[in-house]
Amino acid sequence: MSTSRKDIPETAPEAYRQAIARVIIDEATLQARISEMGEAIARDYEGKNPVFVGVLKGVLFFLADLLQATSIPLAVDFMSISSYSPSSREQGYVRITKDLDICIEGRHVVFVEDIIDTGLTLGYLLKLLRTRNPASLEVAVLFDKPSRRLIDIHPRYLGFHLPDLFVVGYGLDYREQFRNLPFVGVLRPDFLKLS
Ligand code: IMP
Ligand code: MG
Repeated sequence: MSTSRKDIPETAPEAYRQAIARVIIDEATLQARISEMGEAIARDYEGKNPVFVGVLKGVLFFLADLLQATSIPLAVDFMSISSYSPSSREQGYVRITKDLDICIEGRHVVFVEDIIDTGLTLGYLLKLLRTRNPASLEVAVLFDKPSRRLIDIHPRYLGFHLPDLFVVGYGLDYREQFRNLPFVGVLRPDFLKLS
């Protein structure tokens, strides 16, 4: 099959290399954009000691790199969610399986997400956090698939627009695999059919 295997770093596990059709965003491009995002956030939140909130697990890599690129005093906390069922996820209902440890009332919150697809999950979580009366609440997202959006969300900080493709790597998984790739790629259609 004529895929551009040459683009896929040789350091990636061989099993992953075989499953990936092509690289969509390489490591250097990701890191350069995340540095810019961190610098912008640092300028906007200087002196505000913001709380960065991430939803596990997809945001792990982005959040770690973004925090290091944001060189101001800040705090970080996590939430974990699970959908009741595929149909409830479509409606944006999620169950909180791990809530924040930090009280965000009166704090400046930067909600950090890996990817916005329909926007339903994020919409639900933002509504929940707003009920806790933060001083401000803004969104930093690495990937946006605007063509799939069902509700209106405009992230203050955005890394990349993506076409309507299922992507893996840099925290994003397919059945819990591929998160540990430092780049973002698409899977081969025959791999998706086989598994
Ligand atoms: P939304 O509620 O449709 O916006 O769902 C967003 C969530 O779906 C993300 O936080 C990811 O966990 C997952 N997701 C959406 N698109 C992708 C993708 O292309 N690859 C991997 N996970 C994805
Ligand atoms: Mg996620």
